[in-house]
Amino acid sequence: MAEHNPFPGENNTGHVWDDNLRELDNPPPRWWMLGLWASLLFVVGYSLLYPTWPVGQEPTQGVLGWSQMQEYARGVEQVEAKRAKFEDQIRGMTANEILADPGLTQYTLASAKVLFGDNCSACHGSGGQGNPGYPVLADDDWLYGGTTTKIAETIAKGRQGAMTAHQTILTPAEIDTLAEWVVQMSETGGKGGSEEGWSLFKTKGCTACHGQAANGVLVELGNGDIVTVGAANLNDGIWRFKPGGYESAKHTITYGVNQATVPESRNAVMPAFAEAGKLSEQEIKKLVVYVHELGGGK
Ligand code: HEC
Ligand code: HEC
Repeated sequence: MAEHNPFPGENNTGHVWDDNLRELDNPPPRWWMLGLWASLLFVVGYSLLYPTWPVGQEPTQGVLGWSQMQEYARGVEQVEAKRAKFEDQIRGMTANEILADPGLTQYTLASAKVLFGDNCSACHGSGGQGNPGYPVLADDDWLYGGTTTKIAETIAKGRQGAMTAHQTILTPAEIDTLAEWVVQMSETGGKGGSEEGWSLFKTKGCTACHGQAANGVLVELGNGDIVTVGAANLNDGIWRFKPGGYESAKHTITYGVNQATVPESRNAVMPAFAEAGKLSEQEIKKLVVYVHELGGGK
């Protein structure tokens, strides 16, 4: 081919197309070669220092002895050291004392958020917004009271509200009247309940649990604490059992809540978390602060 090369003396490879299109054999530019050697050198250096080549199950170790697991462990140690300071402080304090300290409250909320996600959100929703059948925690409507003492009691010991099934106590017409009355009450903030409904409410034993004012409160103590048996507030638009409204109310009144012998009964069990192996005292304290901050007030 070389003798037919129409461009003798040029460093082409002898491959010529279309009369004058040819492949040259120039060395790559110097900067490019330097780059190539530098990166090869880097690979050698790196693989001497750090884990690099897969050999069997483990990569080569590298002379620095660095590993991702060690790096991770060191990171965790540093975080733990920072936490320990706060954890020690919190251990000696009550939930109310923590709430009075904005810095500690901040730390506690961040820490409790994880606990809440792991232990509570399956039932109460990730932000305490509730789920059908599980109460909202992110509001000011409490079945058992929203003081830190009451919340702590709820989390530690659990709760299980009970309401009698009225299927054999009341006539269907009475249940109807009461269910309609409950809807009227919820729509008017407790002002618009029919007289007929009120009269049944007061004479058929409902007040024993829901209170004289039907707001779920039996007694309000001087210090603002409320005494309740967990009966729902019937004066507000918040429905404990979804979807709410006439049918829901009728169902609850007919079959009650947590009645073991009534299969259609509403189920409402808040587990106890102070039992062995569930949550520590410190964890419960953090959750009390967290839930209190969700709902606030009492
Ligand atoms: C298995 C579902 C379930 C889990 C898990 C659960 N709860 Fe509950 N919780 C309930 C139910 C049901 C009630 C209502 C009990 C009742 O009506 O008597 C409730 C009630 C409460 C109340 C009382 C609300 C009020 O209005 O007084 C608080 C506070 C509460 N839960 C906090 C928590 C926290 C904090 C956790 C996590 C540590 C948690 N719950 C985990 C089901 C659950
Ligand atoms: C033994 C106590 C008790 C008695 C008596 C009782 N209730 Fe209840 N009631 C409760 C409790 C507790 C709840 C809330 C259950 C829960 O959240 O765990 C409730 C819930 C309800 C609800 C559901 C409210 C909602 O938001 O979904 C209605 C409606 C209701 N009661 C109406 C009545 C009426 C009407 C009577 C009288 C015929 C009555 N209750 C008698 C304890 C009682």
